[in-house]
Order: sequence, then structure tokens, then C-alpha cells
Amino acid sequence: MKVGGVAMRPLRAEPARDAVVVIDQRLLPHRLQLERLATPQAVHTAIRDMWVRGAPLIGATAAYGLALSLNEAADDAALEEAAVWLRQARPTAVNLAWALDRMLARLRPLPAAQRAPAAWDEADAIAEDDVRANAAIGRHGLVLLQAIAARRPGPVNVLTHCNAGWLATVDWGTATAPLYQAQAAGVPLHVWVDETRPRNQGASLTAWELGQAGVPHTLVADNAGGHLMQHGRVDLVIVGCDRVSARGDVCNKIGTYLKALAARDNGVPFYVAMPTSTLDRAIEDGVAEVPIEERSAREVTHLSGLDAAGQVVEIAIAPAATVAANPAFDVTPARLVTGLITERGIVTATAEALAALPGPG
Ligand code: MRU
Repeated sequence: MKVGGVAMRPLRAEPARDAVVVIDQRLLPHRLQLERLATPQAVHTAIRDMWVRGAPLIGATAAYGLALSLNEAADDAALEEAAVWLRQARPTAVNLAWALDRMLARLRPLPAAQRAPAAWDEADAIAEDDVRANAAIGRHGLVLLQAIAARRPGPVNVLTHCNAGWLATVDWGTATAPLYQAQAAGVPLHVWVDETRPRNQGASLTAWELGQAGVPHTLVADNAGGHLMQHGRVDLVIVGCDRVSARGDVCNKIGTYLKALAARDNGVPFYVAMPTSTLDRAIEDGVAEVPIEERSAREVTHLSGLDAAGQVVEIAIAPAATVAANPAFDVTPARLVTGLITERGIVTATAEALAALPGPG
């Protein structure tokens, strides 16, 4: 996608294959700052501390982290150790483990001397496959938006939660890909952007992305979605996902489940954009089995933003001694999901449909 008319991705490998360059997403929307990550340690930190975030993006970034580690040492023990360590950077999005498993499958059979160049090739392939998958998700999702636009005049009102945009992937985004394609196809569009407490990925990232692309949007407090749906102001919900179970339970950013409940109560279709790299066929019951990341309580008790002098500052919003909990994701049961928009087409969130779905290709 473009920033100020210039094509940009949130992750790219240096041609010399000695580093990757990422956008430090902690600073958006106030500052667009690129960071060069030249060690596996730097990549691990960037994933753990959310310089890069979003399920597909952390998968691709970890793949490059493994390639960087093989530049240093590529024997069997070094390969396995680096993969185990990178896998621990964040627990919930399965794309991290998926990308590392794909790297290991390619690299394990090779002699140590051939592993580093093959690792860079495979990480590049993971990144490019992600771009292709998201573009295809966009094409399939576009059909849903066009169908609504054909039924009545006025913009199609979409509600989204968190940031499943191009910043969360290598390009296009997942939930945003249909929006960007609708915009290009001339479908009139308006997006309700949930702020997404506690880290505000909607306010700071999705609103910024949509603004760059000229997609009309309105930022709302997380609690506004149900009200908007009751008043007929949401035509459909599209969110991303971090892990989808074999029977179609969807783990995504905390608060997604409440949106799905409100959507069901109001007859609003609830779609999930899911690249097949986010499908975890090893688990059935998403609520019981997805490991939910618990992040720092400080993300709940404090806010950061731009002050009147243009400085990014952090402020407290709770009494100093307040105990806060911060589960970062929740699980929406499959029964509340209208459909999964995948790169292979739109499928129902059922064990049968997902069993029949081919893997990433
Ligand atoms: O904690 P984050 O910002 O990594 O969470 C991101 C989300 O929950 C996204 O919706 C999900 O990863 C899909 S990104 C295409």
C-alpha cells in the first residue's frame, strides 16, 4: 500500500540479506519510523514488544529472524534452538509457529552450509505468499460488499476491530483487503473503526491506514458497536484472526467476541478474514485450547498519545494502586461466525468446510 503516494511495506529484507527493515508500529500514527533489525535478538524483541504485530506479519518477521540466526550459525542444534526461541516471542497467533515450521521443513534436510541462503529464499517466499493470499481475500470479500451496494443506495457500512490491515501483514491486510479493493472498484464505503483498547490499534493504526488510502471512516469507542448495529448503521462486520480452530472458533483481539454477540443479536453478518496460514488444525475447542496472551497491566492503567505540544506522553487513567488484568485476545465461537473469507474463497466456520479447505498454496 502507499504512504504519501509512496509504496511501502511494514517489513522488507535488505538486499544484502543481513537485516530486515520494519516500521516501528509503537510510534504510529504520530511518527513513521523505520528500524533496521540486524540480529535474531532484535527480531525477537520487535515481535515481543510489538514494534511489529498482527498475525501474518509476526510470522513473516520470525521467518527472517531465523534466516538472520543462520547467518551466524547453521548447524542442527543452532537451527532448532533459534526456532524454539523465536516461537516464544508471542503465544497466541499461530502464524508465528506456522512460519517457523515451514522454515524448519525446508531447512532441516539441507547441509548446514546451504541453510542460510535457503532460509532467506524461504522467508521471501513466505512474505510473497502472504501478499498473494491477502490480495485473494480482498477479491473474495469484495463480492460481499458489492452485493450490499447493489441492494440499496448509499455507502456500505463495515465495522472492523483492531488492525487487520496492511500493517498487520506483508501487504493489503486481511480484513482491510476487501475494503481497499472495494475502494478501487468504486463501491461506496464507510468504515466504523473500533478504537481497540487497551493498545488502541484501531485508533492508531487502522484509522491511519484508511486515512492514507482515502477510505471514509469514523473512529468509535469500543462500546459503540452494539448501539450502531441496533440502529441499522452497520451492514457487516469484518475482522481478522490470530488462530482459528479446526471447527471454526476464531481467536482475535480482545473485544471481538462482544462484537460477534452484538452482530448476532442484530442480524448483522459477521465475517472473519482468514488466510489459511492462521488455521490451526491441531485444536478443536478454541475457548479451551488457544493460549491467550496476558500483557502488562500498564497497558490498561495508562494511555499514551500526543500532547498539545506535539510530544508523545503517557498518562495514568486509574488510581496508582489499581490492579488491572490484560487478556489480549478472546475467542468467538464458530456458531457466531457467518463466514471465513480465505484466499481460497468464502467458507463456513464448520469442521467439515475447514477439513475440505486446502492449506496455504
Ligand atoms: O496484538 P496484535 O496487535 O498483534 O493483534 C492483532 C490482531 O488481533 C489482528 O486482528 C490479527 O492478528 C489479524 S492481522 C491480519
